[in-house]
Amino acid sequence: MTKNLKLFAAASFLAVISSGPAFADAISDRQEKMKAVGKSMGIVGKMAKGETDFDGEAALAAFVAMKEAADGFEELFPEGSETGGDTEASPKIFSDREGFEKTHADFEADLETVTSGEAPADVAALRASVGMVGENCGTCHKAYRVKKN
Ligand code: HEC
Repeated sequence: MTKNLKLFAAASFLAVISSGPAFADAISDRQEKMKAVGKSMGIVGKMAKGETDFDGEAALAAFVAMKEAADGFEELFPEGSETGGDTEASPKIFSDREGFEKTHADFEADLETVTSGEAPADVAALRASVGMVGENCGTCHKAYRVKKN
């Protein structure tokens, strides 16, 4: 084999192996994002229930982290990532992308609301924010997530 041919062969081999894991990356990336969303929700949820001490700044920081984790989540569903990697993504995401993106945009809008102002002043204010943000979880999961087991 000439040097150029060898390079060509190596390049096509790389193209083949990287096209598979690209979907796997999207699946694990979106699951990582949701894990982070869940972690932040755990922090504010416990605080809202009085299971942990109220700390407005910590609550705001958790909402900011949630917003960062949610950012770009809706872009991690390329064609070909419908199955594999233990994904719980519903086929509906791929057949009703517009509806899915709208649901995600609503979530981001609520996160924008709770992160754009001051930290919640008291538990009552925090509960209202947790309630508003938390509604999005159920709405989207019901429509676009198929829970395994
Ligand atoms: C716009 C839709 C949408 C919203 C809003 C949403 N989720 Fe999800 N969530 C998903 C989808 C889709 C999956 C499955 C992803 C996969 O497995 O590919 C998921 C998975 C998860 C998981 C499992 C992650 C893993 O693989 O271990 C957790 C935890 C989670 N979501 C928590 C939350 C919480 C908490 C909220 C609200 C604060 C929320 N989600 C809001 C769509 C959403």
